[in-house]
Amino acid sequence: MNNILITGGTGLLGSEIVRQLLAQGKRVAILSSQIKPKVASGARVFHGSLVSGEGLADALKDTTAVIHCASNPRGFQDTDITGTKNLLEAIDPKQATHLVYISIAGVGKTAYPYYAAKERVEEIIQESGVPYTILRTTQFYQFVYNLINVALVDGYNDVVIPEGMRFQPVDLSEVAAKLISVASDAPAQLLPEFAGPEIMTYENMFARYLEVFNITRNWKTGPIENPRFDLFRSGVNIFPANAHGKITWQDFLQKKKARLI
Ligand SMILES: NC(=O)c1ccc[n+]([C@@H]2O[C@H](COP(=O)([O-])OP(=O)(O)OC[C@H]3O[C@@H](n4cnc5c(N)ncnc54)[C@H](OP(=O)(O)O)[C@@H]3O)[C@@H](O)[C@H]2O)c1
Repeated sequence: MNNILITGGTGLLGSEIVRQLLAQGKRVAILSSQIKPKVASGARVFHGSLVSGEGLADALKDTTAVIHCASNPRGFQDTDITGTKNLLEAIDPKQATHLVYISIAGVGKTAYPYYAAKERVEEIIQESGVPYTILRTTQFYQFVYNLINVALVDGYNDVVIPEGMRFQPVDLSEVAAKLISVASDAPAQLLPEFAGPEIMTYENMFARYLEVFNITRNWKTGPIENPRFDLFRSGVNIFPANAHGKITWQDFLQKKKARLI
C-alpha cells in the first residue's frame, strides 16, 4: 500500500484510521473542508470538498487506496450521495485505486432516511466500475456514549430515557483496524457485517455508565417517540452471528474514565 486517502480523516472514525496508519509508517492523505483542521502530525491535508469536487484530484494523486468515511447525516444528499459520485468520478480508472467504504449494519432492512442514503451510496459504488470493498458495522460505543451524555444534560435531576432500544456496539479502534486490513487486501465487494461482542439494552448501558463514572441520578425509562429510537427498537442493528469485536462496553467506559480515549 503506497498512499492512502482518508475522506472524513478529521472525523471520529477517520482520525483513528489516520492514527493507526501513521503508527504503521504509511503515507496518509486527508481531504478536509475545514480551513485549519486538527490532524495528527505526518498526515498530508488537502483542503477541498466532496460536494464541490474541489481538492479531489490533488488528494487522489498516487493513491492506491481510499478509505471513504466522510458523511453528514443532516446533509446526506449532498455529502454522501453527490460527494461519493464526485469521488468516484475523480478516481482515475487506470490507477486501479481500491475504494473501501464504511457503511452501517442494518442498511437494506429499513427505510430510515440516513440508512436509505447509505444504501444508495453502496449502489453507486457497486455500479461505478471502481474496485471496492464495503464494510457495514454496528454503532460505535462513542455513539451510545454521546446519547447518554445528552440524556444526562437534558434531564438533569429527573432523567427519562427511551425504552426498548438495543445495541450491539463496536469499538471504533477495531473498525479502523479492519478497514485498514481490507484496504491492503484485494477488493472484496460486500463483506459480512462487523458487530461488537455484546447485545445490550440501552437501560443496561446507561446503568453501567452511571456506575463506572460514580454518578447518582433519578432515572427511569419511558415510551419516548422518535424515529431514531424506533430504529434501535426494531432490531435491524443486531447481528448475533457477526460478533467479531472483542472490546466491551465496560472496557470502553474504563478507558474513557482513565482519559485514555
Ligand atoms: N458513528 C457510528 O456509530 C457509525 C456506525 C457505523 C458506521 N458509521 C459510518 O462511519 C463513517 C464515519 O462516521 P463518524 O461518526 O466518524 O463521522 P464524523 O465524526 O461525523 O465525521 C464526518 C467526516 O465527514 C467529513 N465531511 C463532511 N462533509 C464533507 C465534505 N463536503 N467534503 C469532505 N469531507 C466532508 C468531515 O470532514 P471535515 O469537517 O474535515 O470536512 C468529517 O471528518 C460514516 O460514514 C458513518 O455512516 C458510523
